[in-house]
Amino acid sequence: MSETGRTGQIYNEIQTPCYIIYREELDRGIEELKQALAQYWPRAIVGYSFKTNALPWAMIQMKQAGFYAEVVSEDEYDLAMKLGFEHVIYNGPVKGKRSFDDALKRGYIINLDAKRELDWLEAYAGTDIAVGLRVNFDVESECPGETSGGQEGSRFGFSYETGEFAEALERLKRMNIRLAGLHMHCGSKTRSINIYRALARKACELKKEFDLNPDYIDLGGGYFGGMPNKPHFADYVKAIREELLPAYSPEDTTLIMEPGTSIITPPIEYVVSVVDVKKTYAGQFAVTDGSRIDVDPLHRKSSYFYEVQSERTSSPGQSPAAFSEQEQTAPQERKTIAKQTVCGFTCMEDDRIFEMKDQPELRVGDRIAFKKSGGYTMCLTPLFIRYFPRVYVEEAGTYRIVRDAWGPDEYMSGSHLV
Ligand SMILES: Cc1ncc(COP(=O)(O)O)c(C=O)c1O
Repeated sequence: MSETGRTGQIYNEIQTPCYIIYREELDRGIEELKQALAQYWPRAIVGYSFKTNALPWAMIQMKQAGFYAEVVSEDEYDLAMKLGFEHVIYNGPVKGKRSFDDALKRGYIINLDAKRELDWLEAYAGTDIAVGLRVNFDVESECPGETSGGQEGSRFGFSYETGEFAEALERLKRMNIRLAGLHMHCGSKTRSINIYRALARKACELKKEFDLNPDYIDLGGGYFGGMPNKPHFADYVKAIREELLPAYSPEDTTLIMEPGTSIITPPIEYVVSVVDVKKTYAGQFAVTDGSRIDVDPLHRKSSYFYEVQSERTSSPGQSPAAFSEQEQTAPQERKTIAKQTVCGFTCMEDDRIFEMKDQPELRVGDRIAFKKSGGYTMCLTPLFIRYFPRVYVEEAGTYRIVRDAWGPDEYMSGSHLV
């Protein structure tokens, strides 16, 4: 059995294209986060970010782990309800009014992100509710080159610099509605600890400047997870603690984290099979039954953690022998090819997943497993040419389907034909 727990016979039977969730690795990430919080800020809530990948099976694991559902639309809100979540963090700039009212009624955490939500709150003036405010401030100047918004800034939350944050606080005060917390999430390109230090420092400054006493500080998502040479959850929470301590106490203030990719990306693999090898005047192409739209839907990636599994080198009942970029253990009989382009099934010329340079020749029947593929893949896959691939969960060496591949029936669901 390899480190990912494969047992050849069963692994060989999986049908590609597919995603595989490695259960042990998923649990390991969840545990690591819980331990980091227990060590550095035990009064904590984790809201799993639905948008990152809301596969129903995975969401049930998050619920069982005690995580809240972090949702940013009425659809996500309704999905959380359908999945039986009893705790929700409702974020985002375009919440639905029905779900907003429902969340207030149920006492869920709501972080306001739009003025119309303040308008909606007028109906609750003077009642015993509390809401959080998403803060917009210039993180880029504190962490140059790091934020997703860059010089253009972020469009989320209420701006500190223009006074919209102060106005929102003022409106809450006028309505006699308590400020429950500060939502500080900032998307970054770097996922660096610096970002969280800057966010936590700002939360301290805001407390002082506006004389606030929030129940929680929500640092949002955007962490690394399961990457050996990158920060771990403990590194982030330790740094956040250091920055928050001057103004907040771990006994009285709840720390909220909203991880998505750091939890769900590491344990998921996307596996495709080579169905044809073409040699043209311009190069060599390995055509697969998968697609770039399933593994890099935003066409941003230039490299992947991947493993090639050569069927020809394994006999039935054995694990397929693997050669990878790192290991360089190519099967002896294969010649090395200067450049092979691994392509997808769609009829788009740009469905080229990646180029393999100076690697053993790919052959029909080989499989390629793209590791760490769980975040912003399944949820961004379009229904283009082929429908959603099946999803397996690997547990103790066995593979079971937790989502069937979609076909025309699922595609047509909800359609009215006349
Ligand atoms: C408010 C909020 N929380 C959490 C997340 C999750 O981020 P990630 O998947 O990078 O951890 C996002 C992502 O955009 C977000 O906008």
